[in-house]
Amino acid sequence: MNQREQFSTRLGFILATAGSAIGLGAIWKFPYVAGQNGGGAFLFIFIVFTFILALPLMMAEFAIGRTGGEDAVTSFKKIAPNTKWHWVAILGMITCFILLSFYSVIGGWVITYLGKAMTGSLNGLHANEYASVFEQTIANPWISLGVQLIFILITILVVAKGVQGGIEKAAKIMMPALAILFIILVIRALTLDGAGKGLAFLFQPDFSKLTSKAVLDAMGQSFFTLSIGVSVMITYSSYLPRTENLPRSAVSIVSMNIMIVLLAGLAIFPAVFSFGLAPDAGPVLLFHVLPTIFSQLPLGMFFFTAFLIVFLFAALTSAFSMLEIIVSVLSKGDSMKRRKYAWIIGIAIFIFGIPSSLSYGVLSDITIFDKSFFDLADYAVSNILMPLGALMMAIFVSWKMKKSVLFEQLSSGSNISRGIFTSWYYLLRYVAPVLIFAVMLDVLGVWDK
Ligand code: PFF
Repeated sequence: MNQREQFSTRLGFILATAGSAIGLGAIWKFPYVAGQNGGGAFLFIFIVFTFILALPLMMAEFAIGRTGGEDAVTSFKKIAPNTKWHWVAILGMITCFILLSFYSVIGGWVITYLGKAMTGSLNGLHANEYASVFEQTIANPWISLGVQLIFILITILVVAKGVQGGIEKAAKIMMPALAILFIILVIRALTLDGAGKGLAFLFQPDFSKLTSKAVLDAMGQSFFTLSIGVSVMITYSSYLPRTENLPRSAVSIVSMNIMIVLLAGLAIFPAVFSFGLAPDAGPVLLFHVLPTIFSQLPLGMFFFTAFLIVFLFAALTSAFSMLEIIVSVLSKGDSMKRRKYAWIIGIAIFIFGIPSSLSYGVLSDITIFDKSFFDLADYAVSNILMPLGALMMAIFVSWKMKKSVLFEQLSSGSNISRGIFTSWYYLLRYVAPVLIFAVMLDVLGVWDK
């Protein structure tokens, strides 16, 4: 099959990009980062960054991808020949490599729970026993590496085949199922005793507690959940026909993602406060809270299993996009090479991810810069590499590409007004670079007196 014909339908493209965006970022990462950063104020800046940075950048990546019409590296080379700009795409590939190495650890945790829920080994546990059962399980190196490997193998197999067709069909059922299961979960969470405290935590911002770390985390989170700054959106949009309305696609993806983020927050925080758990428990937060809420529902384990299946699907569709961008550059449309590179890179990612996987067990005492391997990889990706990629992307589009080309890209298939286009353009040209740079420097204490 010819690579460049992949998404001939609008829905296919939306599902693939939404599939890349919606994943562990909204469901697992958002609650734990918001929990560590005080809740409401974090949610507020996260939403602001989503609209003033991540959404315009998504449109920027779409414009690059459709102008270039090739894999990310080649697209940069085509648009800016004889320059070093294609290194932005190479940086994106490196970022995705590191990203998948720890993303797969969490994907593995979902598989672990799925196994437990399906075999009934969680039945009859008391609400506060789930956390210790979970902790013991992930501390076991064989289990934690085994499930991580399963997650990566599924990713390799799908990317090696080079078809998104089956996935698109499944996504049409899985995405609505995810939303419905979340709504059930939210209703249960909101009717728990003491749910109000969780709502207050999430929706009453206390800006006095906002730290520079929280601001950087919020920016990193807005890029992370929307897969921005790593060329994924460039790669996917390169498969698009001219008639596709880029701004409208970007707005739909961002809205779907925000909806899932809000549902996750509305499910998790009321439960955290009602059960007296710690909102700043870190990456394990979701995994402590979820079974506890489900155990309070009739047919709880059935719903929990269903939830874990769609959750795993959402995590996998994000993982596919990470491996896809690396493999698409290396294989250049050759299906033999695609298979070969999917395996080589996938296995290399697994090996690279071993220390992250063991961070919750045998390597838990080892820290670098005060962080475990897992936290370090996550920090490097979310707070350094993705913002850096986004910064370069903003500069590339607004300083290197022709304004007329950009207008043509954004207006073909849409009726975007000149005013909106110009605001977008200047936002990327001035506001985004300065803001991203300032937020990154702020954490280094550059602005402190
Ligand atoms: N957006 C994905 C999530 O929120 O789970 C994570 C992600 C996928 C980030 C692909 C970057 C990427 F290239």
